[in-house]
Amino acid sequence: MRALRWHGKHDIRCDTVPDPVIEEGRDAIIKVSTCAICGSDLHLFDGFMPTMESGDIMGHEFMGEVVEVGKDNKALRVGDRVVIPFTIFCGECDQCKRGNFSVCERSNRNKDKAEKVFGHTTAGLFGYSHLTGGYAGGQAEYVRVPMADTTHVKIPDGLTDEQVLFLGDIFPTGWQAAVNCDIQPDDTVAIWGAGPVGQMAIRSAVLLGARQVVVIDRVPERLAMAKEGGAITINFDRESVLDRLKELTNGKGPEKCIDAVGMESHATRSFDAMYDRVKQAVMLESDRPHVLREMIYVCRPAGILSVPGVYGGLIDKIPFGASMNKGLT
Ligand SMILES: NC(=O)c1ccc[n+]([C@@H]2O[C@H](COP(=O)([O-])OP(=O)(O)OC[C@H]3O[C@@H](n4cnc5c(N)ncnc54)[C@H](O)[C@@H]3O)[C@@H](O)[C@H]2O)c1
Ligand SMILES: [Zn+2]
Ligand SMILES: [Zn+2]
Repeated sequence: MRALRWHGKHDIRCDTVPDPVIEEGRDAIIKVSTCAICGSDLHLFDGFMPTMESGDIMGHEFMGEVVEVGKDNKALRVGDRVVIPFTIFCGECDQCKRGNFSVCERSNRNKDKAEKVFGHTTAGLFGYSHLTGGYAGGQAEYVRVPMADTTHVKIPDGLTDEQVLFLGDIFPTGWQAAVNCDIQPDDTVAIWGAGPVGQMAIRSAVLLGARQVVVIDRVPERLAMAKEGGAITINFDRESVLDRLKELTNGKGPEKCIDAVGMESHATRSFDAMYDRVKQAVMLESDRPHVLREMIYVCRPAGILSVPGVYGGLIDKIPFGASMNKGLT
């Protein structure tokens, strides 16, 4: 089959590779009909995510048709149309029983490595480094889905791929980011990043009844799309984010802040951003946490910070005193 493979920083190629096969009883093989590129793939492309290996197949937002089913998989049949969530989960461990599927305790086949780095394992993920299992991803003609009897969403007839594809990643990511904010009717929710995750978080915050949703980015077409979704927009290249957020909240600051940017944040006219770039370049810091610092600084006391943006490792100069003293969650 043909598949997109990572060969190193800024080096992704469409290669011919062996077709995947059933390895375990709960598996299924999916013929991919549609897949997408996630902002998280950009962190791999830019070489910031550790434990990628040359030849790894990319992709974790995909869907398609079941073409083969393992002998113990009673939930799927050949011909079923499914969206596959990027988090592989067993449905049986203690975390799965608690509904915490993204930290399934069994699906990461490299969990020893993950435990060393994070203290605990997280779930196995498709196409997202060997720390999360080294599973081949969905930017390919076919994918092997482990634990496929639980790791799938069946698609009812009559819905197009475009209507359901985002159930595999960015919609639940944006939705969960908003849910984690415990949105109240008089809240201002500020969202950094108007990429796909930010766009979904905007719509979720509106649905969950926020008084006001404000989004920060600098890409004009993304800001325009955010406005269509019901957000007030701030262009961080042209305006002061802190001044504008204060102005929009009568000087109080937003009650809820969502970081939909993650480890590669950009900033203009900011000393901390230059500092991060230098430290990241000489590998003294893995991520650039400008947005996190800005959120801690501007968030109203007793507010909530929600962080769907991906961070890879260690960050520096976080104003944790402000976070503690302001009683942020
Ligand atoms: N937690 C999860 O399960 C999950 C799932 C999907 C994506 N993500 C992560 O969420 C983040 C966003 O994903 P995406 O697909 O929307 O990415 P994206 O790269 O398309 O969008 C990021 C946006 O952030 C903007 N940005 C950069 N610096 C900024 C700053 N200082 N202030 C405000 N905006 C800034 C960029 O202009 C860009 O539009 C990424 O880190 C991605 O890895 C996490
Ligand atoms: Zn993703
Ligand atoms: Zn589990």
